[in-house]
Amino acid sequence: MSTHSTVAGQPARRITLNDLAAMSIRGERWSMITAYDFMSAGIFEEAGAHSLLVGDSAAMVVYGYDSTIPVTVDELIPLVRAVVRGSQKPLVIADLPFGSYQASISQAMETSVAFMKDGGAQAVKLEGGAPILPQVEALSSAGIPVIGHLGLTPQSVHSLGGYRVQGRGEAGEILIRDAKALASAGAKAIVLEAIPADLAARVTDMLDIPTIGIGAGNTTNAQVIVWQDLLGLGANQPPKFVRQYAQLRAPIKSAVENWISDVASGVFPGPENTYQ
Ligand code: KIV
Repeated sequence: MSTHSTVAGQPARRITLNDLAAMSIRGERWSMITAYDFMSAGIFEEAGAHSLLVGDSAAMVVYGYDSTIPVTVDELIPLVRAVVRGSQKPLVIADLPFGSYQASISQAMETSVAFMKDGGAQAVKLEGGAPILPQVEALSSAGIPVIGHLGLTPQSVHSLGGYRVQGRGEAGEILIRDAKALASAGAKAIVLEAIPADLAARVTDMLDIPTIGIGAGNTTNAQVIVWQDLLGLGANQPPKFVRQYAQLRAPIKSAVENWISDVASGVFPGPENTYQ
């Protein structure tokens, strides 16, 4: 009997990018949500998420940096491990952080191998178009599933001049060329971030790999979101493309306030929380 069997005898197999591509061909929209720890990974799996992205957005929402630029491979790998341990079924994707893949094919290979062997990720995501095609081609040829990322690529925030909508006018044609080139280089899907909806629709129509939108309208094959945005954990107003399905910051704060006040007054711990 295979050591990869579940109690029910079903093979414990994670969703793959091929499965997700098949869903897209059938016209079924699928989901990708960020996860950075064991518990959130388990909750999102129970909710039915198809894929979990250990995004370099961890730089900001986990580590408190003011952009994604400072976060390192060493800081992200433990988060990937936790998400893999916390989930069974969803595809786990590791985001390659700034400076860990742009320099050369061998750098991209080394980083991706670390995320897969040490972290347990099933796929990697990297940002950019033409300049990183050799990396995408080499990783794909080595059997590493690669997801591209075009439009607003936060690792390039300084050259883009801020977090703003991309792909308007002539830039839209460049993005289309980049998307085609990424697909030809072997990318299995492409994230489209903060671009006009009609451009995302054109790219989605044109490609035979799935597109994953964030701030790219509702015609992409899938949607991706940072979970703290979705669930209202941040102190600031989220971007326009976010719909908050809960506002968890206030109830969490109020529960902790209540606990602090019960500690101060001696009401907690009560007899029911006390060993005799
Ligand atoms: O790092 C991240 O969370 C991302 C998504 C927003 C696509 O790249």
